[in-house]
Amino acid sequence: KRVAILISGGGSNMVQLVRSMTGDHPARAVLVASNDPAAAGLSRAAEMGIPTAAVDHRPFGRDRAAFESALLEPLLAAQPDILCLAGFMRILTPDFVARFSGRMLNIHPSLLPKYPGLNTHARALAAGDAQAGATVHLVTPELDCGPILGQASVPVEPGDTPDTLAARVLTAEHRLYPLVLRRFAAGKTGRIDL
Ligand code: GRF
Repeated sequence: KRVAILISGGGSNMVQLVRSMTGDHPARAVLVASNDPAAAGLSRAAEMGIPTAAVDHRPFGRDRAAFESALLEPLLAAQPDILCLAGFMRILTPDFVARFSGRMLNIHPSLLPKYPGLNTHARALAAGDAQAGATVHLVTPELDCGPILGQASVPVEPGDTPDTLAARVLTAEHRLYPLVLRRFAAGKTGRIDL
């Protein structure tokens, strides 16, 4: 299976995904693309020998469809079977999502259905939750609401700030996403809970 990974920033999840696709793994990374040409993850992907593409979303303003058709050019050229959103911070239109229906994954830093959207760690802390974590789900047109493929939970510790909790959740993401991708690429169903 050919995997394209979309990033917007550091790409730490992308790095873990790429590193996991070795040996008898049923998938290979064929492209890392970003909506930000300055995304640090692009150089990390290049260092690992993965082809990269950058399509700056800013010149397109509010025209999401125009940005997406520009992004689709390198993306479709890579002929991906699976799309992994990994720290990708743009909302995708239903048309784009429909193109990859059933084969686009996203990682979200909360235990969905709790806290879809942004600032998930601050919201979990404000709610006094004892657990937080991350979710890998299939992407559907409604934001952060698709079928869950896996979750990893972490304890909220006394004195946690959004940053300390984010760091703990991020390490859980790095364990969860590669496991979910491997199962998904192998055609296995059933969710993973860590
Ligand atoms: C992190 O906040 C992570 O929780 C979320 O996207 C952000 C950046 O991740 N998934 P990455 O380091 O770019 O993968």
